[in-house]
Amino acid sequence: MSSLPTSRKTRVAVLFGGRSGEHDVSLMSARSVINALDPERYEVIQVGITLDGEWCNGENTHDAFVSGNIQNLNRVVLPQEPSHSALYVLRGTECGEALEKLSDIDVFFPALHGPFGEDGAIQGLLELADVAYVGAGVAGSSVGMDKGIFKDVMRANGIPIVDSVLVLRTEFEKDTNAVIAKIEAMGDYPFFAKPANLGSSVGISKCKSRADLYEGLMEAARYDRRLVVEKGVNPAREIEVSVLGNEDPQTSVCGEILPSREFYSYESKYEDGTSGLIIPAQLPEGMSEQIREYAARAYKAIDCAGMARADFFVDVEMNKVYLNELNTLPGFTSISMYPKLWQASGLTYPQLVDRLIELALERKAQRDHTERRRMS
Ligand SMILES: Nc1ncnc2c1ncn2[C@@H]1O[C@H](COP(=O)(O)OP(=O)(O)O)[C@@H](O)[C@H]1O
Ligand SMILES: [Mg+2]
Repeated sequence: MSSLPTSRKTRVAVLFGGRSGEHDVSLMSARSVINALDPERYEVIQVGITLDGEWCNGENTHDAFVSGNIQNLNRVVLPQEPSHSALYVLRGTECGEALEKLSDIDVFFPALHGPFGEDGAIQGLLELADVAYVGAGVAGSSVGMDKGIFKDVMRANGIPIVDSVLVLRTEFEKDTNAVIAKIEAMGDYPFFAKPANLGSSVGISKCKSRADLYEGLMEAARYDRRLVVEKGVNPAREIEVSVLGNEDPQTSVCGEILPSREFYSYESKYEDGTSGLIIPAQLPEGMSEQIREYAARAYKAIDCAGMARADFFVDVEMNKVYLNELNTLPGFTSISMYPKLWQASGLTYPQLVDRLIELALERKAQRDHTERRRMS
């Protein structure tokens, strides 16, 4: 099925940065991806996306983004019309702006995290342009991103998920007491208040009292018009598994996160540097298989493709497993959990990147074999 060109190197456009709060995390993921692409087989076109959403390319684009010196880079454009599969440089001429072809592209690799990169937005553009790209499509990305809708899809598929309530910001502003009563009806504190569509724990609070809950809802409401409040798993072990594939996804061994703080907050993820990873996770008999089975089922339920990291909570007292979320563009540096779990399962980082590119081409070939309208 896969159609890697043999006569020349495969041209891979690695996209990084982006408009989300995870811009810097994306730069780190992209560095590892770029380093892993075998120069004998791939030609890499680096595309940095600024916090304002401008696409840029030039000499050492990635270094320029890391240092912040992007003034010498060119603006680049991906035409939304099918049939190009190329990037163009936007050049200022005497008669206005003109497009000049930068390169044909075989595969786009969005090494982007969070809103616009992981939520189906850029995937929509890549679909319109009819190009091959790494990772999930529009529906898989957006359902994976939206903590409210994701949970409903999991419940419909019989995958265990913590109890939760979806609250609109407007509802909270209009009748705070009713919203708090609805949340408290789920049971005892703690609860976790979250923006529905974000990542990296931004805007998430652990709420141990009504006062905390009010503060937590206010905080989450800064970042989204839809808020999710969940029953806290307390104490929770955090177990993660990597999933790879399109229609027949494979799962890795399980790993465990040991957060440096009371929960795996932004500071604990990126600032403390003391959160630990244990691979493989030491789990009771049969739990690892159960987790892997849920992960593959959840992946298929949202029509994920390419990759995802499935994150679970284990209720230590009840010995019960809950799926927390599927990250469709998980942290992807060579020391991130996603590739490390594959490494422990026998797939090196460069092999993983090769496989993702193959999967992107396979998915594109499947799209090409699908009729979009009735032919007379
Ligand atoms: N229901 C919950 N029970 C226990 N801990 C939770 C719960 N929800 C979130 N957490 C803690 O908060 C962290 C971030 O929450 P998560 O939903 O994974 O958001 P993000 O998408 O930003 O990673 C989790 O890794 C965990 O430490
Ligand atoms: Mg998470």
